[in-house]
Amino acid sequence: MTTDTTGTAARDGEARPGGPADSPFVRACRREPVPHTPVWFMRQAGRSLPEYREIRANVGMLDSCRRPDLVAEITLQPVRRHGVDAAILFSDIVVPVAAAGVDLDIVAGTGPVVAEPVRTAEDVERIRPIGRDDVSYVDEAVRLLVAELGATPLIGFAGAPFTLASYLVEGGPSRTHAKTKALMYGQPELWHALCARLAEVTLSFLRVQIDAGVSAVQLFDSWAGALSEADYRRYVLPHSATVLSGLADAGVPRIHFGVGTAELLGAMGEAGADVVGVDWRTPLDVATRRIGPDRAVQGNLDPTVLLAPWSVVETEVRRIVEQGRAAPGHVFNLGHGVLPETDPEVLTRVVALVHEVSAHRAEQG
Ligand code: CP3
Repeated sequence: MTTDTTGTAARDGEARPGGPADSPFVRACRREPVPHTPVWFMRQAGRSLPEYREIRANVGMLDSCRRPDLVAEITLQPVRRHGVDAAILFSDIVVPVAAAGVDLDIVAGTGPVVAEPVRTAEDVERIRPIGRDDVSYVDEAVRLLVAELGATPLIGFAGAPFTLASYLVEGGPSRTHAKTKALMYGQPELWHALCARLAEVTLSFLRVQIDAGVSAVQLFDSWAGALSEADYRRYVLPHSATVLSGLADAGVPRIHFGVGTAELLGAMGEAGADVVGVDWRTPLDVATRRIGPDRAVQGNLDPTVLLAPWSVVETEVRRIVEQGRAAPGHVFNLGHGVLPETDPEVLTRVVALVHEVSAHRAEQG
């Protein structure tokens, strides 16, 4: 079967009533009426769950991402436990970059660490384009999961060029992104060559996931908030747009996410998103005015609120569901990932509360 045929089959299947394309999550992404506000959590699969810590006890992060049986099991854990409206593929933004030949590791407690940071045009050239065979474990894991999940949609994802470039140029996590910005301002041609190559790798990685049957994709530009709007538009938006517009005909919603992006929300929508991720710094009604009526929003509970007493969590969840009603579509989420110290029972209660509060409001409305 060719890649194309498989992709078409997956999309046809999704169109069925009661299938994942008809789920509250995908409907909200498309700004269609929903029975309740759908909810999932970034990093819902991870260290907050004892069953995750157990399965990962003796397996490295990158190794676990390359084992379809482990990927499927870890992806399903939060779906079983919390009853979230979507699963997100267990993987990492640096998985396709490693597949493209970059020597890197994911160090527990630190994040991605790159052996030889990118400095020159030759370094960029060494980042190879990838195809399905380079990430066959992802293709296989998605197929296993789509069969297992039934009506629950699976979200595929990738890192956006800026956030990936930051890890590659810094060699690891950075607070200031100083080396990244120095390269961007000082060697714009090299910068654009690097981002163009990363956009190509990212687009291929997302196409593999879509062809294998994911119901939506999220492009993580976690660190884009480090830039002014003018610099974002000049140095980053064209590359993220290559990825998002390259998926325009794929038939699945595209979510575009970043942190600290209050000033970038409009531009991140214009890059070609169906849904824009919003962190806790911007209320959803304000965010929606910046993004406009043609896109849904996703967010935006502060992950640290989950560490507070339940009465505080409840007040914040109700506020966000209410403010989300100003948007043409709302997917409830955190403003960034679940913190490892979060009590998983609080997450389960949040899912139930979002469903209850939003269903009640829908009946009244
Ligand atoms: O549940 C999910 O959200 C799916 C899995 C997922 C992971 N990484 C698993 C992971 C997703 C969507 C990512 C994306 C990712 N990875 C991003 C974008 C999202 C964001 O948080 O902004 C970024 C910036 C990375 C890079 C990265 N990988 C970081 C910063 C870390 C954390 C380092 C640490 O140990 O604190 C990782 C490792 C990582 N990726 C873990 C998980 C579950 C932790 C590894 C472990 O369990 O030891």
